[in-house]
Amino acid sequence: MGAFHESVMLEDVVRCLGADRGGLYLDGTVGGGGHAEAILKVGEDVRLLAADRDPEALAEARARLRTFGPRVAFAPGDYADARELFGLGEGALAGVLLDLGVSSHQIDTGARGFSFRPGVPLDMRMSGQGPEPTAAELLASLSVDELAEIFRAYGEERRARRLAAGIVESRKRVPLRTSDDLLRVLEAVWGRPVAAAEAARIFQALRIAVNKELDSLGRALPELRDLLAPGGRLVVISYHSLEDRLVKRAFREWSRDCVCPPNLPVCRCRGRALGREVTRVPLRPSPEEVARNTRARSARLRAWERGQ
Ligand SMILES: C[S@@+](CC[C@H](N)C(=O)[O-])C[C@H]1O[C@@H](n2cnc3c(N)ncnc32)[C@H](O)[C@@H]1O
Repeated sequence: MGAFHESVMLEDVVRCLGADRGGLYLDGTVGGGGHAEAILKVGEDVRLLAADRDPEALAEARARLRTFGPRVAFAPGDYADARELFGLGEGALAGVLLDLGVSSHQIDTGARGFSFRPGVPLDMRMSGQGPEPTAAELLASLSVDELAEIFRAYGEERRARRLAAGIVESRKRVPLRTSDDLLRVLEAVWGRPVAAAEAARIFQALRIAVNKELDSLGRALPELRDLLAPGGRLVVISYHSLEDRLVKRAFREWSRDCVCPPNLPVCRCRGRALGREVTRVPLRPSPEEVARNTRARSARLRAWERGQ
């Protein structure tokens, strides 16, 4: 285990990817490189492409995976752009891993602005220095409707509109720059101290918006599917229900023979499944793993295999 990030469900990942078949794999969220290391250790005939949006993660993974030499290649960027990042063609990959969300390192490094501990700047960009607006910039510029939609859709927050209106009111007096500023608005709107779980949901909603996380995932799923060779596996670990729903729906849809609307008298769609679900229900970490690593508690792993 590294201090950077403790990888979740290591054995399930290696088994579901089918890394023992050898070949070329993609770790689209390499983070601290824990999963990548376990995959590369399976055999000399395993090669790995490693991407991450976060330059600090890539530097950590490079150092950790140095011993594998030319069997591993790195690229900074969004996993949804893997085709361009690594110059890949259809059917090039034996397997793909996405371990979504943020790493412990990102959460624990105050300056990155992912946590709601006191004094943390509202940044939240996974890329660190990328051109995308920070959380503070979104809070300063979006309308009540736009902010409410973020808290409702990504945070499943019932008081989304009240909170959005509170933010817009508050920023007229003083800009929201740090976690404390946002927590103060939350407390004013709620009229009481905010529980940690409530704050976590609101901060997570903002993080999803800053990094356009669901857009990346939605765009990536069919892209990555088409990069798989016949028999290739796509493994995704998600940490909240919105991500898991996207993955579940995609895997279900690709595994059906017919996807025509039910009222069509004859089948006009592709007429055959593109592959099969390896996990009918998502795998969860064991109680022992959750006791050891509380950040594993919300993990859900789903795997899909491309047809021959
Ligand atoms: C949970 S951590 C991965 C940990 C890693 N599996 C390990 O074993 O150390 C998630 C990582 O995914 C990266 N990430 C999230 N969304 C991404 C995206 N769309 N493209 C590339 N990297 C992304 C984050 O920067 C973070 O480093």
